[in-house]
Amino acid sequence: MNEQSDILVQKLEKHSDKETFNCFSHITLCALDIICETAMGKNIYAQSNSDSEYVKAVYRMSDIIHRRQKMPWFWSDLVYYVFGEGRKHNRNLKILHSFTESVSNNFVIRLDSLSSDSDTDHTVKKKRKAFLDMLLNATDEQGNCLSQENIREEVDTFMFEGHDTTAAAMNWAIHLLGSHPEEQRKVHKELDEVFGTSDRPVSMEDLKRLRYLECVIKESLRLFPSVPFFGRTFCEDCNINGFKVPKGANAIIIPYALHRDPRHFPDPEEFRPERFLPENSSKRHPFAFVPFSAGLRNCIGQRFALMEEKVILSKILRHFQVEAKQQRDELRLVGELILRPESGILIQLTKRTQKLMPEVPTLLQVLEDHPSSR
Ligand code: HEM
Repeated sequence: MNEQSDILVQKLEKHSDKETFNCFSHITLCALDIICETAMGKNIYAQSNSDSEYVKAVYRMSDIIHRRQKMPWFWSDLVYYVFGEGRKHNRNLKILHSFTESVSNNFVIRLDSLSSDSDTDHTVKKKRKAFLDMLLNATDEQGNCLSQENIREEVDTFMFEGHDTTAAAMNWAIHLLGSHPEEQRKVHKELDEVFGTSDRPVSMEDLKRLRYLECVIKESLRLFPSVPFFGRTFCEDCNINGFKVPKGANAIIIPYALHRDPRHFPDPEEFRPERFLPENSSKRHPFAFVPFSAGLRNCIGQRFALMEEKVILSKILRHFQVEAKQQRDELRLVGELILRPESGILIQLTKRTQKLMPEVPTLLQVLEDHPSSR
C-alpha cells in the first residue's frame, strides 16, 4: 500500500500548484494496483499503464451493466443479445475473465509451491497464504472444494468489490476535505503529530493513531456510501412498523437515505467528522450507519478498506493541501453499481510548505545501534 501510494503522490505532484484537475481515475488506478497486489499477488501496473485492457474493460463493464439495469426491455437475455449490447457485454466479460483466470491459475501454482517448500521463514509464508488458503481450502456442506471456476468468480468479486468501492470513498473524502478547510486543518495537525516532518512509510502503529482521519473516512462514507443500495430477501414473515412483510419479499436497503436520518445524525447534510468520535457514537443504534451492510453477509473487506483509505489519504494529505473546485450541487451523483460523481472530482493541490524528509535516526537510536561509538 505504501509503495502504490508513493507512486500516486508522484503522479499528483505533476498536477500540484494551482492546476485544476480530476483526481478520480488517479486514485482508482492506485486502488486497483493495491487490491491486485495484496490480495491476488499480481501487479498489473495500472497506475503506470492506464491503457491496460483490463482497466478499460472494468470501466466499460460498469457502464454496460448500469445501462442494462435502467432499461427493463433488455432484462430478457434473448432481447439483450439480439437487439442490445449483449455481444459487447460478452466481449468485455471475456477480457475480465481471462485476466482473473490467469490470476487464479497463478494462485494454485503458488500455493502448491508454498506448501511443498520447507523454507524456515514461517510467518511470512503464513501471512501470504492466508487469502489463498481461504479460497482453496473452502468446502461446501458436502466437503467439496471450490472448482477453478468458483475460485475465478471469487477473484472477480474481490477485484471489483475491492477497488471501486475504496476508490469512490477516497475521492469523496478528498472532495469533502477540500470543501471544509477547518476539518482539513485538523487532519493535517494529526498527521504532523504522528509523522512530524518524516516522509517514512505508514506503519500499523501509525494507523491506530490516525483517529481523526478515521472519523473523516466514516463521515464521508455516511454522506456518500460507495454502495448506495443493496438487496435482501426476507426468509421469514416479519412485522415492521405495523406492516406485515411476507417471507420471500425483497427489500432494498438504501444507506444513502438511512444515513440521513436526523434522529441519529442531526443536521444530516453537514460534514461533521466528530460524529464518529467514540463519545459521540457509542450510544448510536448499530444499524444507523451501515456503509458495509450488516449481518451475515456484510462486507468482508471492511477492515482492509479502512486501512487502505488511511494509508492513501494520509500520504496525499502529508504532501498536499486540497481545495475542492466543485460545489455539492455540481457533483451530480450517479448511483450505478457504485456511488460516483458524474464528472469526477475536480481539485487543486498545493504542496504543503512543511518539508518532508526521509526518516533520520535520532542520536539515541544511533548510540543504541552502535554501542561502541558511545
Ligand atoms: C469503502 C469500501 C467498501 C464498501 C463501502 C463496501 C461495501 C460493501 C457492501 C455494502 C457489501 C454488501 C453488498 C450486498 O449485500 O449486496 C459488501 C460486500 C462485499 N465486499 Fe465490500 N465494501 C468495501 C470494500 C471492500 C474491499 C476492499 C473488499 C475486498 C478486499 C470487499 C469485498 C467484499 C465482498 C467479497 C463482499 C461480498 C460478501 C458476501 O456476499 O458475503 N469490499 N461490501
